[in-house]
Amino acid sequence: MARIPQHFIDQLLERTDIVSLVDARVSLKKTGREYAACCPFHDENTPSFTVSPSKQFYHCFGCGAHGTAISFLMEYDRLEFRDAVDVLAQALGLEIPEEAQSADDIGPPRDPLYQAMTLADRHYQAALRQDQATIDYLKQRGVSGEMAKRYGLGYAADVWDGLNQRISDKAAATAAGLLIPRDSGGFFDRFRNRLMFPIRDTRGRTIAFGGRTLGDDKAKYLNSPETPLFHKSDQMYGLFEARQAMRDLPRLLVVEGYMDVIALAQHGFPNAVATLGTATTPSHLTTLFRHTEEIVFCFDGDAAGVRAARKAMDQSLPVMRGTRRVRFLFLPDGEDPDSLLRGPGGRDAMQAAIESARPASSVLIDALSDGLDLNTPDDRAQLIERARRPINALPPEAFRAELIAEISRLARLPSEDLRQMFANTPSTQRPKADKPLERHSHESRVTPVTRGLTLLMADTTLATNIEQTHSLRDSRIAGAGILAEAIDFFASNPNVSVAQWLEHYREHRYFHRLQVLAGQHPPGDAEQRAAEFADVIRRIARQSISRQSLRDRYNALVAQQEREPLDAAAAQELKQVLNQLQDATDTGH
Ligand code: UTP
Ligand code: MN
Repeated sequence: MARIPQHFIDQLLERTDIVSLVDARVSLKKTGREYAACCPFHDENTPSFTVSPSKQFYHCFGCGAHGTAISFLMEYDRLEFRDAVDVLAQALGLEIPEEAQSADDIGPPRDPLYQAMTLADRHYQAALRQDQATIDYLKQRGVSGEMAKRYGLGYAADVWDGLNQRISDKAAATAAGLLIPRDSGGFFDRFRNRLMFPIRDTRGRTIAFGGRTLGDDKAKYLNSPETPLFHKSDQMYGLFEARQAMRDLPRLLVVEGYMDVIALAQHGFPNAVATLGTATTPSHLTTLFRHTEEIVFCFDGDAAGVRAARKAMDQSLPVMRGTRRVRFLFLPDGEDPDSLLRGPGGRDAMQAAIESARPASSVLIDALSDGLDLNTPDDRAQLIERARRPINALPPEAFRAELIAEISRLARLPSEDLRQMFANTPSTQRPKADKPLERHSHESRVTPVTRGLTLLMADTTLATNIEQTHSLRDSRIAGAGILAEAIDFFASNPNVSVAQWLEHYREHRYFHRLQVLAGQHPPGDAEQRAAEFADVIRRIARQSISRQSLRDRYNALVAQQEREPLDAAAAQELKQVLNQLQDATDTGH
């Protein structure tokens, strides 16, 4: 399917008024410069949902829901991006132009990359049909031909030059992560002797591959690297196939492995998805909750599984609103869904495990009271201390009330007292470092770049005060380039809404964060904000210099490591440099 040209989306948002769009679905009341209503995305009695006509953006300070007119349709009418665009276009009597990639698109052109992916997909699938050994491997693992077809499984032969000989656009294939340039010139196949799993986006386009070794390669699985098409921490394996198999997804199962997804589908659970060898991210959860109301995380019963569950819990808390539910399923030690399904219990054992998955509240309470003796007053005080952060991460809703009630029972304190204690907690208070659930995705650290973006989106006229953005553009600090683009954009388009600018970034990995920042209202008057903005820009320029030297040091150490094993001091330094780099990259989320 052709991409929708960005200029068309600009045009749609320019002509759409988010206030009337929302008002047709949720009755709005004017309050000063904005409009307000009780939030359609969570239960409440007093309005905390606001729509800003100047930003063309909605934001709920109860549950944190936010976005542009397109996002609103996606969330409220549960539409995919393209369908939401379609609704807006039809309302305006416009037709979506079916042209290919438009030139003013952000980033490198992606069409050739998609083409390379399609070609690779065909190549690997055709190779599988011809390779009896791999067909036998799949059979022996209980995967039917029908499942192999549904998930587009393929085979990368044990040669250096299989795909390379088939694909002429080497630049695109390299950028898509399929080929690797040789030092001596020429290219070779990244995936060799592997069972290939295409990773598809929610529109069904293959954007990456996972490959399982069919030999004894040390890397059991090899995934595509990050490419312009593929951001691992945003993607879930199997979501497209799940949506194809079931129109309504009352629940999604989140598992760890590719083979688990396929085994589940094979046994009549087509609604499973897997993270791609990473922990669950907020972006994963936002995507999943767009398609379902209930997420069941399946983890191994071992220590690593418990750790992974805690991370997933951390990420889930801020998005638990309305009727959304999260449950946790811990499999017996040493089992994964694939082995459970193929064991003596079969499908029934899996079904029973899903049904008995524990609600998030009970898992959370267990984690919080782990190691405490609640018969002692000291430990009861500890429990309250530990509960602060997770409770404060929750939107003010039923789930939060439920948890407070349970903790008040365990802590033997009236829940009204607890409610007040939690409401008054300064969010800067740090828990003891060894406690579980200590970080929360939405308590972001404010970096100069995030602060700059927040200030600018709150008042786009700030862009006109900045003389030039070269130092930002050249900076390697994460997000600085986006800030530079925003300044240049608003300086030359002073009457364009924040929403319209944001829509240029919908497929960018920072889109979610940008939307969060767009919903904020920085305090202070116009003059204070202008002064702060100028200061932030100066700080970023200064930081860029020190960041560049960190990078140089990192590269030098990595180069050294490639030549010889690092001694203890150098290894330690590498770790430190990496940490500092990650700190600086984390734009706070
Ligand atoms: P597992 O080791 O549990 O593999 O890794 P699996 O899915 O059960 O595979 P089989 O059954 O042995 O074939 C779980 C997930 O972790 C990621 C992959 O996404 C895998 O599906 N992983 C694992 C990697 O990315 N790289 C690896 O080397 C191993
Ligand atoms: Mn397995």
